[in-house]
Amino acid sequence: MPQLPDAPQVCPSLMSADALRLGEQVSALIDAGARVLHVDVMDGRFVPNLMLGTETTRGVASLARPAGALVDVHLMVERPGDAIGWFAPHADMISVHVEADPHPHQLLGEIRAAGCLAGLAINPGTPLESVAPLLERVDYVNCMGVNPGFSGQSFIPETLGRLAALRDLLPDRVALQVDGGIGPANAADARAYGADLVVSASAIFGADDPVAAYRDLVERVASA
Ligand code: DX5
Ligand code: ZN
Repeated sequence: MPQLPDAPQVCPSLMSADALRLGEQVSALIDAGARVLHVDVMDGRFVPNLMLGTETTRGVASLARPAGALVDVHLMVERPGDAIGWFAPHADMISVHVEADPHPHQLLGEIRAAGCLAGLAINPGTPLESVAPLLERVDYVNCMGVNPGFSGQSFIPETLGRLAALRDLLPDRVALQVDGGIGPANAADARAYGADLVVSASAIFGADDPVAAYRDLVERVASA
């Protein structure tokens, strides 16, 4: 089974990368130390957008794996059970939304059986208690800081309190991820409130120098 890095991580979310320069940008971030690469998968139904697919994920894995970096696939799709098998060969971590399927318990087992760390993602409006019955089968929880679908949205401030409450709820072995609305202004707060895996798209790829923006977030998270 893949192992998460011990130290907190900034996880570049590739949906905001320059699609025509994706390999170059991913390689530069790996060279700068990125060890968890976040791939958003959207079906236009669970969320109102269409995003990255298996071939992009395969390409990212071909760059990540030789460097020991993990590919983290965030499934924002209806019927995520179908997609687990499509993405697992190119993924090290897969998260499914607790809202997306009536049988998350089963899906988490399928993710682990496919050799990936199992993540449970929860939308901002979903009660935190929904993760409690599933914890035995979870390796990380993705606490959304926005309603998923688009990068560049404003961080929902109540997320910080949700992170702290989740950290109390989760066993130590379960990593806590925050995803959406993270940038220089709040990356340290997200870490201070309990996040181990800090996802960021537009704050990295919207910058003139994505590597410099990534390094800046790493410093802020490390100093929190
Ligand atoms: C949100 C996605 C995020 C997104 C974050 O729908 O799940 O991973 O890429 O984008 P930013 O960091 O720009 O909010
Ligand atoms: Zn995401």
